[in-house]
Amino acid sequence: MTAKLNVNIDHVATIREARKTIEPSIITAAVICEQAGADGITVHLRGDRRHIQDRDIELLREVVTTYLNVEMAATDEMIEIAVRTKPDAVSLVPESPNEVTTEGGLDVIGNFEVVKNAVQQLKAADIFVSIFIDPDLDQISRAKSAGAQQVELCTAEYAELTLSSRAAHGEGAQKASAETDRIRAAAVHGADLGLIVAAGHGLTYRNVGALAAIPEITEFNIGHNIISRSVFVGLDQAVREMIEAIK
Ligand code: PXP
Repeated sequence: MTAKLNVNIDHVATIREARKTIEPSIITAAVICEQAGADGITVHLRGDRRHIQDRDIELLREVVTTYLNVEMAATDEMIEIAVRTKPDAVSLVPESPNEVTTEGGLDVIGNFEVVKNAVQQLKAADIFVSIFIDPDLDQISRAKSAGAQQVELCTAEYAELTLSSRAAHGEGAQKASAETDRIRAAAVHGADLGLIVAAGHGLTYRNVGALAAIPEITEFNIGHNIISRSVFVGLDQAVREMIEAIK
């Protein structure tokens, strides 16, 4: 079965917020993604509100007919917003104030009680809960103990190793292959525990194929590469091309 694609449209809001204006519309973006065949829409409501705003979540909840996945930190402020707006899914992610983007998976082991508490509150509001996590077997086991229904494996390391032509040769290729194996083992472990397994971060048209070949990974969350390509070919085509790359 082909893995699902949720398109992360944060960077449409990044352009809008560069001018603090009304365009480009993330609502239009969400509809185009859905019409191009995306299985869902993902957005990250950050504490600093650098791109997605609270009102975007409210509007997207009204408009998105496929699946709305909101990434957020496990804070009281964010949980309150989720419980009120009721996205289909929440993905708990770590957040530090000055990061350019999410810098790795959530440390569930080190923050177990906070994470478990957040998962319980979200599930009580009928929200499906995923945890963004490094491809680490112990972290995945703890995510299961915390009550998560899904883990999203952080592919940042894999993305880094496959970004340039270094990846095609010698040591670079070996490291990329070892990281692919680590992700595969993590996916199998998650599936064995009864978790749904997703993956994301830094994935591209070129590097998604090797991970799409791992049957345990049933969902991808991809943003930057799709939105980047959409500047040149349009969002509809950029989404369709990613769906083909996953297939
Ligand atoms: N998954 C998670 C949890 C993320 O934080 C991000 C980035 O917001 C993505 C997926 C998408 O990453 P990218 O924009 O690099 O495709």
